[in-house]
Amino acid sequence: MQRLDKFLSEAGAASRRELKAILKTGAVRVNGRVVTDGATKIDEAKDAVTLSGNPVAAKRQIVLLLHKPAGYVTSTDDPRDRTVMELIPEEYRRLDVVPVGRLDKDTEGLLLLTNDGALQHRLISPKYRVEKRYYARHEGTASPADAEAFQAGLVLKDGTLCLPAKLRSLGPGESEVTVTEGKYHQVRRMMASRGLPVTYLRRDREGFLTLEGLPRGALRELTAGEYAQLAAELAP
Ligand code: URA
Repeated sequence: MQRLDKFLSEAGAASRRELKAILKTGAVRVNGRVVTDGATKIDEAKDAVTLSGNPVAAKRQIVLLLHKPAGYVTSTDDPRDRTVMELIPEEYRRLDVVPVGRLDKDTEGLLLLTNDGALQHRLISPKYRVEKRYYARHEGTASPADAEAFQAGLVLKDGTLCLPAKLRSLGPGESEVTVTEGKYHQVRRMMASRGLPVTYLRRDREGFLTLEGLPRGALRELTAGEYAQLAAELAP
């Protein structure tokens, strides 16, 4: 259930300010009946809303997959740095998409953005155990003992306990790290705690989604099939 005025403004029918006046004129109908009170609760999945006889569709829910370049902060607004929102075309920004979780300014790779609040929450929540896989270049070489420590659940220098994670050495100075949570600077701090400071970090995978075919700086909308799969995998 949602307020009628919120539904209309989010659908782009009119600005919040204009809406009051529009509602007063009787131009808005819910299931055929004139409604003049913007506070009226509607069920956006069931109720038919019209403005001057034209159906008003709910805001389209979308998930975007961005290949974030280094140098952008994951924020909707920043006084100093460029934000990832500058990489999002206006047609999507108008739908109020926000980043799902965070990649550091220097981290590249897969970043999802969405206006689906429930999905956003589940993607971030450690409860849903969505795997995030990173490619890391670092000093030193990861050993089997490091992998075992990751698997057991690392304790970081400040006492933070991490959920079990995977560390796969790809050779000297290169590893793949898979985590199911998103603590601040998590991968960098995990690697540093084992004496393997990270010099380059890229997220390659989140759940079943990858960067395949997407150049750095580019983005695409998830297909209806991908969106449905994601929602199904993250069903409560
Ligand atoms: N872990 C980090 O340390 N940085 C990121 O950007 C993502 C995960």
